[in-house]
Amino acid sequence: MNQNININFPNDISLTIKREDLNHPFISGNKLRKLKYNLLQAKAENKTTLLTFGGAFSNHIAAVAYAGKEQGFKTIGVIRGDELFDKIEENPTLKFAQENGMKFEFISREDYRNKSEISFIEKLKEKFGDFYLVPEGGTNELAVKGCEEILTDEDAVFNYVCCAVGTGGTISGLINSALPNQKILGFPALKGNFLIDEIRIFAQKDNWELISDYHFGGYGKINLELIEFINAFFDENKVPLDPIYTGKMFFGVIDLISKKYFPPHSKILLIHTGGLQGIEGMNLKLKQKKLPILKTNV
Ligand SMILES: Cc1ncc(COP(=O)(O)O)c(C=O)c1O
Repeated sequence: MNQNININFPNDISLTIKREDLNHPFISGNKLRKLKYNLLQAKAENKTTLLTFGGAFSNHIAAVAYAGKEQGFKTIGVIRGDELFDKIEENPTLKFAQENGMKFEFISREDYRNKSEISFIEKLKEKFGDFYLVPEGGTNELAVKGCEEILTDEDAVFNYVCCAVGTGGTISGLINSALPNQKILGFPALKGNFLIDEIRIFAQKDNWELISDYHFGGYGKINLELIEFINAFFDENKVPLDPIYTGKMFFGVIDLISKKYFPPHSKILLIHTGGLQGIEGMNLKLKQKKLPILKTNV
């Protein structure tokens, strides 16, 4: 569903939001797209268990837990950092995943770096038996195929399509399915320029650019300016944004409009990739830091 945003920008620039966040109550946004073909593949391979990786607040972990339950798979989440193993109840994402049947394997941040190595995967197989492996953030070729379905015929009118970038799967799908007149802008939620190479693995065109000025200090980092932006955006447009991905991307796009980055008459489509489940966990942290909490209707 596309939702027009009634903000009067100069130079006849318009903003429209693709509300992927409304696609599913628990497998929202890009997660539904990324898991679609992976779960079909897992079934085709007669797998009964899904194993995946993520941080303790990961949208992907929550989505895999729910999707697994819905489609009859056991699920295992390999979680970065072992400090939460006896505090699952205190973390809304892990609690949700556990309630939906996910079993956890907590590992140190050091071990987590080896998660793609064959010996590491073999050890997991010894422990848990056979599984279908969904990579961190869900990004692989089948996930990109799913994300190629985000843009539809009704989106041909837009000349810019903007999305948040974590592992690069979502933007790769958008790049592959974009029309020749469309430019895809990605807003990384984390520092570092390794993402360009990751995206080139999956994306076959040059119609894209990463804008790396809006990560707010790195993955999961936020400040008062971002909180106030997300809350004002919610008050004005009744659209909740998450602080890790979509909030930073929306902030970036609106800032770039004010800096005249976009030519007059640009029609900009922002992909709302979901992530709203993470707000509860972030609000617990914000309360501890005595910062204002994020508004949301979920
Ligand atoms: C809500 C949300 N938006 C955007 C992204 C970035 O997507 P990708 O990892 O495909 O770059 C993620 C992470 O997967 C996410 O959870």
